Amino acid sequence: MHLKKIMFVFGTRPEVIKMAPVVSELKKYSNKIRTIVTVSAQHREMMDQMLEIFDIQADYDLNVMTDNQKLSDVTCDIIKGLDPILGKEKIDFILVQGDTTTAFAASLVGFYHKVKVGHVEAGLRTHDKFYPFPEEMNRTLVTSLSDVHFAPTSLAKDNLLREGVPKQNIIVTGNTVIDALLLTVNKKGFAGYIRQDTHKMILVTTHRRENFGEPLEEICKAILDIVAKHKNVKIVFPVHLNPNVRKIVHKYLSNEKQIELTEPLDYAAFTKYIADSYFILTDSGGIQEEAPSLGKPVLVLRNETERREGVEAGTCLLVGTNRQRIVKEANKLLMDKNAYEKMSQAVNPYGDGKASKRIVKFFLNGLGKD
Ligand code: UD1
Ligand code: UDP
Repeated sequence: MHLKKIMFVFGTRPEVIKMAPVVSELKKYSNKIRTIVTVSAQHREMMDQMLEIFDIQADYDLNVMTDNQKLSDVTCDIIKGLDPILGKEKIDFILVQGDTTTAFAASLVGFYHKVKVGHVEAGLRTHDKFYPFPEEMNRTLVTSLSDVHFAPTSLAKDNLLREGVPKQNIIVTGNTVIDALLLTVNKKGFAGYIRQDTHKMILVTTHRRENFGEPLEEICKAILDIVAKHKNVKIVFPVHLNPNVRKIVHKYLSNEKQIELTEPLDYAAFTKYIADSYFILTDSGGIQEEAPSLGKPVLVLRNETERREGVEAGTCLLVGTNRQRIVKEANKLLMDKNAYEKMSQAVNPYGDGKASKRIVKFFLNGLGKD
């Protein structure tokens, strides 16, 4: 039997987290399928931090990140870096994840080389071309370039069907982030645990391009209002390495006693922070998927989301970036027990932790046989 080759291409923090369980599952079948990992390093430090915790070694590293990089530069550098690798390696399938520029550029190069593309976390949509930007367009383009679509939920599958993707090319798997979460959250011995008996901890993250500038300033002012009103609240805010985030967050929030700004936390620590938070303020996509599993309310700092399932389940609430609105909803969670309990039911619309097994099964059935 000819050994088939599957190449993963990823490069940002969330892609590593969500692909790690798939890499690890596929590697169990190294007698049938050869696994190659190419990293773009669209995120240098934040990607490396996650590669280390999930113990993934890259076969190829495109090392594209530059300071405050432009979308066009990232796209071109990934295309130029990946092209010769696909020219040299005879790959049967490329696997990309999500909606990043890495996922888009890699699937485009796959297409140029007539290599099949599998898309993990396919079918998420807001149906607004510019929101989130550029992610909504990235994932739409990845859909067009892909041959197999691993949809996390039936809602995502329906989006794909509506766009004319053939039914037989869509597999509903659950989201691999739940695989990663379950693998990690049960591990013992990691730092990052914070006791809650003396205070309520609110975990905050932001990084969306739409929120750069004034919206992020509004978010910071809302956080200042929250700590001014609630002396028993502590904010933990691991600050994304994007300079557009750091500049504003540090300007408004450093030197505040109730606010702890940290560097990005590794996944094991971060999931412990989620588990120990009272609620979460974030514009992150992945955290909207993780928090419902752990029964943590999320005030989503966005006007729209492609992750409707968490909103429909009642754990995630879209609050946008208006200072008064954020403060109002935070006050409600902090002071109204009923409102808090309603949002803190543990629900799991995103999968059962076996998404990677389903993805790998597809390859064992479809590719592993000759
Ligand atoms: C990227 C993705 C976004 C994803 C997010 C997850 C695109 C266009 N954006 O956004 O979809 O939700 O990652 O976090 O694909 N930086 C560092 N070190 C790092 C990472 C980033 O210094 O480890 C700084 C660099 O100056 C870099 C900048 O952040 O140029 C922006 O990184 P980039 O990947 O372009 O955008 P993100 O906002 O991180
Ligand atoms: N995360 C982490 N450490 C942090 C912040 C986030 O491990 O300091 C994890 C988080 O649990 C989630 C993922 O990173 O799985 C989300 O990444 P991010 O918000 O950067 O990207 P998005 O999901 O919005 O694309």
